Amino acid sequence: MGGHISRSFIHELINRVDLVDLIDSYFSLRKTGQNYIATCPFHHEKTPSFTVNPEKQFYYCFGCGAQGNAINFLMNYAHFEFVEAVHELASQVGMEVQYEQGNASVSITLPTSLYDLLTQVAKYYQQQLRQSPIAITYLKKRGLTGEIARDFGLGYAPTGWNNILTTCGSTLEAKTRLLEMGLIKKNAKGDYYDLFRNRIMFPIVDGRGRVIAFGGRLLQDNSKEPKYLNSPETRLFQKGGELYGWYWARQNRPLQHLVVVEGYLDVVTLAQYGIKNVVATLGTAVTHEHLTRLFRTVPEIRFCFDGDLAGQKAAWRTLERVLPFLQEGQQVGFIFLPPGHDPDSLLRQEGISKWNDCVEKTLPFSNFLFDTLQQQVDMSHLDGKARLAKLAKPLLKQLPTGSYYQLLMIKELSKLTQIDETRLTNDLNDLIEPQPINSSIPNKTLREYSLVDQAIIYLLHNPTLSQYVTYPNEKLLGLPDEHIKLFLQLIELIKLNPKIKTLGTISYEVDQHATEYKNIINQLGLVSQGSLFTNHLHMIDMDEEFKDIIKRLNEEYNKQIVFPTKNETQTDEKKEHGY
Ligand code: UTP
Ligand code: MN
Repeated sequence: MGGHISRSFIHELINRVDLVDLIDSYFSLRKTGQNYIATCPFHHEKTPSFTVNPEKQFYYCFGCGAQGNAINFLMNYAHFEFVEAVHELASQVGMEVQYEQGNASVSITLPTSLYDLLTQVAKYYQQQLRQSPIAITYLKKRGLTGEIARDFGLGYAPTGWNNILTTCGSTLEAKTRLLEMGLIKKNAKGDYYDLFRNRIMFPIVDGRGRVIAFGGRLLQDNSKEPKYLNSPETRLFQKGGELYGWYWARQNRPLQHLVVVEGYLDVVTLAQYGIKNVVATLGTAVTHEHLTRLFRTVPEIRFCFDGDLAGQKAAWRTLERVLPFLQEGQQVGFIFLPPGHDPDSLLRQEGISKWNDCVEKTLPFSNFLFDTLQQQVDMSHLDGKARLAKLAKPLLKQLPTGSYYQLLMIKELSKLTQIDETRLTNDLNDLIEPQPINSSIPNKTLREYSLVDQAIIYLLHNPTLSQYVTYPNEKLLGLPDEHIKLFLQLIELIKLNPKIKTLGTISYEVDQHATEYKNIINQLGLVSQGSLFTNHLHMIDMDEEFKDIIKRLNEEYNKQIVFPTKNETQTDEKKEHGY
């Protein structure tokens, strides 16, 4: 793929992009030592094993093995196609994509142009809002000021079946993109029509403030159509992971905690009252993706629910989802509003002080858990207490094993039931499920690798070392080491492409041309700087070490040639002549 984009351009691009910045723009990274870490976005986990190495411009997850450079990251995390990822990165660093000579650039749908299109559509809706008295009246009736509507980019999709098509879909290309983004649809006769009609429009934006989808609310509730309609899932928009209001909430960093509500208007109304650390799930219960994202950003999350029965049930579902995420230092609380209220209606009808009351009474996670369970049993009897223990155990089991959090919850359960703590812990341990196996963390020291592997490791740390190896090098090629060919290919690659400076770039080349080596390269590339130097108090001279390895490899070769055993030579000859 992407054969027509110039290779040296891609090398230059990977060198220029800062992978740490790129990833940090999607979720927060924390610095530890030389690396940056986060909980892995590619698998579910409780403790961070996703690492980004700024020097190597390479990310790697010790839990699931996900790995790669900036291009891989955009492809795997943000679902870009290869060519799109290159264009996206190029636009971020202000480079123009260069194609190989003689190859006309082909027309492709770039996400940059998808974002442009969605921005254009959002602007159109906003302009329509300004011109529509009924839409303005509606928003006023809901108590919104023009200012807050502007802050959140609210708009209006007018009545009529082809407004978007005629204003934003004049070319075939634009039409295709509108269709891909779900803003227009095709009926049985093959005609296109607008998805959003006569609705207040809420642009949904990603972590960088780019419009990726829309939510639309009917002006008049009617039973024929759903009150809220969201864009369908597209490659820019995955419902299960998005949170409405995320971008605006994150403007107020550093954030102590985030409040999770249910509706678009709850977010907007709370913001109008000055409460800006609020996000909403998009018509779904909170998901693992949501929680991963939220806990990466803040240590505390408060979930807000209607105090009625449905709200309590929804809160319980949330509690169950949150259990595995509760590490030390992470807190979860539940805000219950008076029955029948959501934040929007409470603020409008009762005012901010009522809201503040509810927030003050935020129910800590543990209280909500034990209170709810105790309501289901008769605590005045022994069997009620036994039953409480039985109900609580599978829940406590899901807390991070051995965490203080789990410990304290066991203590609390013991207090409530008078069952001995050790007994509860043992019972819990019997229930514990096996932990997923952490895949191969390279933990050998450098000397435990073969000489050739050591050479590769040095080379991956510092590609300029290739200057000490002549190429082509038939001598070394004659060594009986399974990785020697790979080593020499790397030497060639680096010599031919002086722009190759990091593991990130090398890994790109290997991806393209030598996939069979991908795993080896990435494994060896990850042998940490630290373990290279374990036997040395001071920084070693990498050049000298590398030269020494090459010298020893040459010696090995010479030994081989000088003392071939007779038998071996004969069998080799026989083979060669087909005996
Ligand atoms: P609600 O039905 O509670 O509506 O849905 P609301 O937020 O209070 O809206 P208003 O106040 O009547 O305008 C809560 C959220 O669930 C999603 C929307 O995200 C909505 O904000 N939802 C609701 C849908 O996606 N589709 C629907 O038909 C209804
Ligand atoms: Mn509402």
